Amino acid sequence: MEIFRTVEQLRQWSRAQRCDGGEGIALVPTMGALHAGHASLIRAAAEARPGRVAVSIFVNPTQFGPNEDFSKYPRMFNADCALAEREGATAIFAPSVEEMYPAGAATFVDVDGLSDRLDGKSRPGHFRGVATVVVKLLIAGEPDLAFFGQKDAAQVAVLRRMVEDLRLGAKIVVCPIVREADGLALSSRNTYLSAEERKQALVLSKAVRRVEELVASGERESAVLMEAARGMFGAEPAVRMDYIELVDWETLLPVLSATHGTLFAVAAWVGKTRLIDNTIIG
Ligand code: PAJ
Repeated sequence: MEIFRTVEQLRQWSRAQRCDGGEGIALVPTMGALHAGHASLIRAAAEARPGRVAVSIFVNPTQFGPNEDFSKYPRMFNADCALAEREGATAIFAPSVEEMYPAGAATFVDVDGLSDRLDGKSRPGHFRGVATVVVKLLIAGEPDLAFFGQKDAAQVAVLRRMVEDLRLGAKIVVCPIVREADGLALSSRNTYLSAEERKQALVLSKAVRRVEELVASGERESAVLMEAARGMFGAEPAVRMDYIELVDWETLLPVLSATHGTLFAVAAWVGKTRLIDNTIIG
């Protein structure tokens, strides 16, 4: 497995892969602290493009707000490389902040409207940072496939819009949410939770499950589904709800009733840790 630190190294490698066999590479963008959720993306990428999988590991400063956890975000580069290689990665792209944002950097990507919804509403500027770093990664790596998790469903909506609008060559592949046995969605931020908070955090996946059950029993009305989810949070007062939304997954605008492909999403604060979860109505 090769480790690249510069955009130019990644670009040369990607172009060499394409010359030698025709197909392009698969890219899996991450911020590191890799867990089984990331592993599932890398595995899916390795199945689609065996021997041509790049995993980027970059804690992107522009997607963190001033009072967020950029400096304390978990960093474990050697363990990440070992996990990535085990799951089939053939290259790691781990640039410095200066490599991704040259001195004086003034170019950012705004996905109007979408960037201000769901997580973008409670984390102003977050999706601008995400879109900006992902467009840089896609331009640098020139992948024909880029893998993302449904875990960050609003992020997927923003990036799909960006890839379409900018006519980028990459196809976005979305992988299902990987959960702990008790339902908690895996997240690098779960490491911040105390034992007590870890139990409280289950309210997110329970609310998601409750909505899935109601939909399975025939309920479609947004007001009823949201009220049921809100009720679950009422039973866990230690957890501070950020949002509960039932939206069109493409526009992130609220819907009155759930149909095939509607996104039900929740975000909440468990102590000082902000967690998210969701389900796509099937
Ligand atoms: P990060 O939080 O490291 O996540 C990297 C990818 O792993 C994202 O596409 C995310 O949705 C996916 N992922 C995280 N937890 C998952 C789970 N439990 N199941 C399935 N997939 C999961 O998302 C980011 O980084 C950044 O915003 C990034 C896109 C890299 C831009 O900086």
